[in-house]
Amino acid sequence: MSVLKNNPYRKDFPVADQVIGGKRLAYLDSGATTLKPLIVIDEMDKYYRQETANVHRGLYWLSENATNKFEETRDKIAGLINSPDRKQVIFTKGTTESVNIVAQCYARNFLNKGDVILLSQMEHHSNIVPWQLVAEDKGITIKVIPINAQGELLLDEYKKLLTPEVKLVSVTYVSNALGTINPIKEMAAMAHAVGAKIFVDAAQAIAHKKVDVQDLDVDFLAFSGHKMFGPTGVGVLYGKEDLLNMMPPYQGGGDMIDVVTFEKTTYNTLPHKFEAGTPAIAAVIGLGKAVDYINQIGLDKIQEAEEELLKYATEKLKSIPGLKVFGEAREKASVISFGLEGLHPHDIATLIDKEGVAIRTGHHCAQPLMKFLCVPATCRASLSIYNNQEDIDQLYNALVKIKKFFE
Ligand code: ALA
Repeated sequence: MSVLKNNPYRKDFPVADQVIGGKRLAYLDSGATTLKPLIVIDEMDKYYRQETANVHRGLYWLSENATNKFEETRDKIAGLINSPDRKQVIFTKGTTESVNIVAQCYARNFLNKGDVILLSQMEHHSNIVPWQLVAEDKGITIKVIPINAQGELLLDEYKKLLTPEVKLVSVTYVSNALGTINPIKEMAAMAHAVGAKIFVDAAQAIAHKKVDVQDLDVDFLAFSGHKMFGPTGVGVLYGKEDLLNMMPPYQGGGDMIDVVTFEKTTYNTLPHKFEAGTPAIAAVIGLGKAVDYINQIGLDKIQEAEEELLKYATEKLKSIPGLKVFGEAREKASVISFGLEGLHPHDIATLIDKEGVAIRTGHHCAQPLMKFLCVPATCRASLSIYNNQEDIDQLYNALVKIKKFFE
């Protein structure tokens, strides 16, 4: 089945089929946030119109219903990532908060002066800065795994960097700016061989490929709901049980306690220890529907559809003279970063917006990567299952038009 011609998923996403400013919308910024299917929107609408109540608190039907739906999402996420236990699935605000929890509660407490954290050249700022905040205070050194011109991690260099001082490796599964898919299973085994733990930023991977935490054997993994057809404001931190149990709570408040006295407080068990305060209830319930949506289609079908879109878009864009693609890894997700000779990426994005095309432009929260590429910014088209040939052709035509205009 071709998504290019007769996309069967597009009808599920009301935002996809719109006319904005008199132009057909071509939404090509799914790396920033995916569109939401109707089943997610409807479920959240239902919570607000008919089923509003807090969770884990009330002994009345509405509260029990909300609690059940909230906790069902935890089961669905545990199933999606093959977590050994539902209690290892912690709801957070998003990937960024998940990284900060591990930096503050694990790295700050269990790493010491002289230890090393390994990151990679292609990391998002949210997988750099949280570690720096701790590293500066504790005298921990941060080292960087280099990449090649195609945007692939250099595994030989990674191996050399894996000295006994390395206590933690934190890498992205899929680069938001290049699309590179990193060999996480192999990298986890290599990290463990020197006694290091591995944290994986799966924000750009979770809606695009099967992520199995047991098969990968990762220690921590994080992702955001809004990049997997779910709402904003909710994400997940997965961790190995012994590590999560070792870690002190991140924030104090309701739900994360066992017994509170002014002299001493004891804490709740996993996962609640890390979920202080009223959570993003509607968002978590909506996320459950996003998981249902992914499961209904199947990640293999999603991957197949995105590969078809990526192949068509790459060939089409590369046929434009003066267009340079950044990131041509052999294992690549449906992200195309590019530049057009003689034009600033911001001008490109502004001009093609007038043609109805929505792409992201900038440093993509990956300034060290931009430095490596020797560019201030790139344009990025990121594709998802609701895109079709018309969207890609619209991008192509818009680029050709502005190129002609500046010639
Ligand atoms: N991290 C998101 C992106 O790459 C916002 O666009």
